[in-house]
Amino acid sequence: MAVTRTFSIIKPDATRRNLTGAVTKMLEEAGLRVVASKRIQMTKEQAEGFYAVHKERPFFGELVAFMTSGPVVVQVLEGEDAVKRNRDVMGATNPADAAEGTIRKTYAESIEANSVHGSDSEENARIEIEFFFKPEEIVG
Ligand code: PPS
Repeated sequence: MAVTRTFSIIKPDATRRNLTGAVTKMLEEAGLRVVASKRIQMTKEQAEGFYAVHKERPFFGELVAFMTSGPVVVQVLEGEDAVKRNRDVMGATNPADAAEGTIRKTYAESIEANSVHGSDSEENARIEIEFFFKPEEIVG
């Protein structure tokens, strides 16, 4: 299985509860390696751009408001089949549907405050990594 990269965000509900380390530990224990990481306050423009694919959805405004409500930690993760590996350890979008042992089952508060984001394909991972990181910020 090829070593690939994915993009992750530790969301404001998790940073607010001081769970950056706990979430990162679960990612690492799932076989992912953090090859870039920074804590940022997303601007409204950044959040609207990042989530542009969802702009027609009824929750778009709330999603942007939530993602700009506090600091987030954006990360590039590397590992075998990284996109799937990350989505498996994150669990379902809605924590009510997430499997035991996943990050969202363990920490998420709601479908909005669901602690983590992860790219859903390798193509989107490349786009999302480029959105937040310069190549020299990623050290594998
Ligand atoms: S999809 O169709 O699978 O891409 O959509 P989904 O995974 O359900 O959700 C996409 C992102 O929107 C967030 N979301 C919400 N935010 C606020 N309110 C409601 N009701 C809501 N439903 C979904 C969800 O957490 C996803 O965020 P990311 O950052 O992509 O995980």
